[in-house]
Amino acid sequence: MQTRVLTGITTTGTPHLGNYVGAIRPAIAASRRADVDAFFFMADYHALIKSDDPARIERSRLEIAATWLAAGLDPNKATFYLQSDIPEIPELTWFLTCVTAKGLLNRAHAYKAAVDKNNEDGEDADAGVTAGLYMYPVLMAADILAFNAQQVPVGRDQIQHIEMARDIAQRFNHIYGREFFVLPEVLIEEQVATLPGLDGRKMSKSYDNTIPLFAGSAKQLREAIMRIVTDSRMPGEPKDPDSSSLFTIFRAFASEAESAAFRRALEEGIGWGEAKQVLYERIEADVAPMRERYESLMARPAAIEEILREGARKARAIAGPKVAELRDAVGLRSMSAVNLQAGKAKMPTRAGKSPRFASFRDNDGSFRFRLFSSDGEELLLSKSFKDPKAAGLAQKKLKTMGGEAATLHVLPLSLVLELDGEPVANTPDYVDEPARDEALHYLREALDLLAAQESE
Ligand code: TRP
Repeated sequence: MQTRVLTGITTTGTPHLGNYVGAIRPAIAASRRADVDAFFFMADYHALIKSDDPARIERSRLEIAATWLAAGLDPNKATFYLQSDIPEIPELTWFLTCVTAKGLLNRAHAYKAAVDKNNEDGEDADAGVTAGLYMYPVLMAADILAFNAQQVPVGRDQIQHIEMARDIAQRFNHIYGREFFVLPEVLIEEQVATLPGLDGRKMSKSYDNTIPLFAGSAKQLREAIMRIVTDSRMPGEPKDPDSSSLFTIFRAFASEAESAAFRRALEEGIGWGEAKQVLYERIEADVAPMRERYESLMARPAAIEEILREGARKARAIAGPKVAELRDAVGLRSMSAVNLQAGKAKMPTRAGKSPRFASFRDNDGSFRFRLFSSDGEELLLSKSFKDPKAAGLAQKKLKTMGGEAATLHVLPLSLVLELDGEPVANTPDYVDEPARDEALHYLREALDLLAAQESE
């Protein structure tokens, strides 16, 4: 069994060493595991909440996509896409919006922080707060729930958002009466290092203390490292590795043995300048081949776009049927069923054969039936009917309804057909979602064939 792991990267900045060590590298390592089905996407709709600078949004999407690919993400293994290439996400956002308590969003940390600041400054509570910021958690819930993600690796600042996604999912499940959504779990990587920045505080864009990952050259990487703040101990004086940013950063790239050697060198009094050179060389050994790939990708934006398009296609193969199911569940269903019956074109039957029903009596004496395709494949098995007439009536309805009018609920590996709001039959279990979607297609086709015959 694979676990579906999904995470989004907001596309506002340029990746730095802290992003690489804390998020990119562990995520890519996880995506290589056989038991992980990874979904990684550029959260560019979220980026619009933070930035209204089109050039910055454009550049960041490209840089971040190139960074992940250069760092070793295999787009054939992971599903890698742009959020804005998935129209199902904003559609689902609206469905979720309509079941989300406004009070829940009032409690979101980012929104509350903005309100608190306004209150402190004596401003109107909502001054400068967009509805986008307010809705941020719902869009994020849609990102996750559209794909039945089971685990969501995020930083600690995002835990509340995952909890909200669970809340919203449960609320929707409750209102519409079925387990539409998998409840996602937050995944916090405890072992992952947080890197100190140039000034010793956590490396973060908001502190302006970052070391860029690829942007620029080896020379610029070296210059940044030379600016890392150290104490004033002179060459020859012993240094304390455990209070040194240099050592913490070094360890994030080096093996145990290399780290032990660097620790010894510091304790034995290596000068800070020389220590920085050692650190630079160690990082550059990892970064150089990636930077080369990065630059080659950045020179071919069309190739990156092609990869992302393909990722979106894979992603939509899951989100598409999911959102279709939800549209149906909330009542946005086909109104044309009746008219379609009247004006339906005659369907050719395959090789003269047609789908057929087979009724049988179950061990417990109840009445059931199966529907087989024209090729003899089992499409549906009905529930048990106590009364043979009820079983017959259900078959009759199935014969005339047509594929378009069928209410089909999409489960992870099977489909459930409903009549008058009641489940009456289900498909066998399929091996995977594509097989299930193919079955959906065949089932609708079989129902169309039956309806065409009935109206002859
Ligand atoms: N909000 C996340 C962040 O800033 C990015 C994000 C958007 C995300 N949608 C997501 C993360 C869905 C995980 C799942 O880090």
